[in-house]
Amino acid sequence: MNKRIAIITGAAKGIGKAIAQRMVSEDYFTILVDVDIENGKVLESELSDSAKFISCNISNNKDVENLFNLVIAEYGGVDVLVNNAGIIKDNVIWKMPVEDFDKVVDVNLKGTWLMCKGAGSLMREQKRGRIVNITSRAWLGNRGQSNYAASKAGVVGLTRVLALELGKYGVLVNAIAPGLIDTPLTQKLPENILEKLIQSQPTKSMGQPEDIANTVAFLCHETTQFITGQTIYVDGGKSIGAGI
Ligand code: NAI
Repeated sequence: MNKRIAIITGAAKGIGKAIAQRMVSEDYFTILVDVDIENGKVLESELSDSAKFISCNISNNKDVENLFNLVIAEYGGVDVLVNNAGIIKDNVIWKMPVEDFDKVVDVNLKGTWLMCKGAGSLMREQKRGRIVNITSRAWLGNRGQSNYAASKAGVVGLTRVLALELGKYGVLVNAIAPGLIDTPLTQKLPENILEKLIQSQPTKSMGQPEDIANTVAFLCHETTQFITGQTIYVDGGKSIGAGI
């Protein structure tokens, strides 16, 4: 394979799909990782010979090991990993079942860690690579998201540690913290809640999946060589703080 290889998790829809499409347009061969086989296969055929779909639950150690064994056997290495897969199970803490804490942390934090372990080990040997972890502005605090915010805060910490551990091997590791983005995840929100969230944005608008894909492309571009360990907010300014 003479193309660079990018692995995108949660690529079947939403932000992950836009990232995968963008990486293909940047001339990467893109490995689409998801548990949603139906939508993953649709995207694979849309991207024709520039992408391969692999069904993999990122929170399952065996699945992730199999994924990296396949990537090494078929493609010989990986240039970019984008950890985008994530889930929400919102509730105030006094109503949140412990299972919903476990599930969210399992996918968002442990799954991201497992994927970083697989790719980071390979990239260390290759002496090159880029990892982009999709966290969330919500790590700063969002009522009803104690599980999600904790998992995404963990992703920020993980990103900073890996930047320290992998920097001398030519591997750059950064995070993107999206704000409110128009995807199947946010399309599930009740209309009145969604409108309130939009009105609380400095821009009074939602972002598009392409806003995140553009930032991934920037962080992975060959001219971007001196940024690592950072969390970049792509959130219409919501992270600035209170406004009236
Ligand atoms: P989405 O729900 O539209 O897509 C997420 C994808 O991840 C789905 O295709 C799903 O099947 C896949 N996935 C879930 N669990 C998985 C697992 N265990 N293994 C492999 N794949 C799995 O979500 P969306 O909105 O595109 O979000 C993508 C990322 O961006 C998530 O990490 C989310 O937390 C983050 N984010 C999204 C925001 C938004 O407003 N949409 C705001 C801030 C962060």
